[in-house]
Amino acid sequence: MEALEGTVENLLEQESLKWVFVGGKGGVGKTTCSSILSILLSAVRSSVLIISTDPAHNLSDAFQQKFTKSPTLVNGFSNLYAMEVDPSVENDDLPNVEGMDGFISELTNAIPGIDEAMSFAEMLKLVQTMDYSVIVFDTAPTGHTLRLLQFPSTLEKGLAKMMTLKNRFGGLLSQATRMFGLDDEFSEDAILGKLEGMKGVIEQVNKQFKDPDLTTFVCVCIPEFLSLYETERLVQELAKFEIDTHNIIINQVLFDDEVVESKLLKARMRMQQKYIDQFYMLYDDFHITKLPLLPQEVCGVEALKEFSHNFIKPYKPAITRGTIEELELRVSTLNLQLEEANVELDRLRKGKQQADHFDPL
Ligand SMILES: Nc1ncnc2c1ncn2[C@@H]1O[C@H](COP(=O)(O)OP(=O)(O)OP(=O)(O)O)[C@@H](O)[C@H]1O
Ligand SMILES: [Mg+2]
Repeated sequence: MEALEGTVENLLEQESLKWVFVGGKGGVGKTTCSSILSILLSAVRSSVLIISTDPAHNLSDAFQQKFTKSPTLVNGFSNLYAMEVDPSVENDDLPNVEGMDGFISELTNAIPGIDEAMSFAEMLKLVQTMDYSVIVFDTAPTGHTLRLLQFPSTLEKGLAKMMTLKNRFGGLLSQATRMFGLDDEFSEDAILGKLEGMKGVIEQVNKQFKDPDLTTFVCVCIPEFLSLYETERLVQELAKFEIDTHNIIINQVLFDDEVVESKLLKARMRMQQKYIDQFYMLYDDFHITKLPLLPQEVCGVEALKEFSHNFIKPYKPAITRGTIEELELRVSTLNLQLEEANVELDRLRKGKQQADHFDPL
C-alpha cells in the first residue's frame, strides 16, 4: 500500500470537519500544533475558534497574547478566535453552606470527574451556539483528555447517584436548603434538572464527536519509546470511544543534514529513526506529518506561521535546499571528516605494519 501523504492537507480539505482535537503526552507540542492548525484552517474556513482545555494554559504563550474564557480575536487575524477554559468547576459559584457543601462534595467524591464533565458540558453548550465553522481543541495531556471524552458515561453515573442520594436523604436536603434560605437554583431538584439538561447537550455533542465527518483527533508525539507507547494507547482508547483519528504528527525530529558531527546527535537520530520506522509500520493508514526540531521555541504568530509550512509540505533538510553558504559548510565539514578519516587510516595502517613486523620470538 502506498503511504498516505505526510501532511495535514487532508484536514484542511475536509470541509465538513467541525471539531478537531489535538492531543498527546505532556510537552510534545500539542499547543504549538493546535495553534498552527487553527491558523491554517483560518485561511480556508469562514471562522475558527481554538480552545485550550488545559488548566496550565499556554495558548497565550504560543500566540503571545492574553486570552480569557470568552473568545478573543487573535491579533493579525479577522476570523481566528481563541479562548482558555478551566475544566474544573468554579466552586465560587456554589454557596458555602455546610449541608450543601457536603452534598456537592459527596457527589464529586462519588463520581470523580463529574465537576469537570459539567463545566465541559457548559462550555460545549456555549460554543454550540456560537456558530464557528470549525473548533480546534488544544487538550491537556492524554489521561485528562480521555477523561473528558468519557463524560457522557460520567454524567450517566452522576444522575444515578443523585437518585440514590435523593432517596437516602429524603426531604432532608430540600429542608436544609429552605432553612438556609438558599435560592431554588441550588435545590436538589434544580441540580438534578441541570444534570438532565446537560445530558441532552452531551448526548448531542457526543453524537457529533462520533461522526468522522464532523470530528477527528490529531495525535501529536515525538520519536521516542514512551511517546510511541502512549500514542498507541491513545489510538486504542479513541477507537473504544469511536472517535476518528487518522493523523499523527511526529514533532521534534532531528533530520540528518550531514552537517551534524556530534556523536550524541547522530546516536539520537538513529534512535529516532528506529521509532519513526515503527510509527510508519504501525500506522500505515494514517497521515504522518514529521516536524523538525528547531534550535529555538516556536513562539508568537510569526514563528507559528513560519513553522506552519512544515504542516503542508514535508520538511526537507536544509542541505538539499542548497544555498551556497550551506553547501560551503557541507563541503568544509566533509573535508574535515575526510582529513580525520585519513589520519585514522594512517594510524591503523602503521599499527598493522608494526604488528606484522613484531616477532615475539
Ligand atoms: N519542533 C519544535 N522545535 C523547537 N521547539 C518546539 C518545537 N515544538 C514545540 N516546541 C516548543 O516546545 C515547548 C513545548 O511545546 P508545546 O507547548 O506546544 O507542548 P505541549 O504538548 O502543548 O505541552 P504541555 O503538555 O505542557 O501543554 C514550547 O516552548 C514550544 O515552543
Ligand atoms: Mg500545551
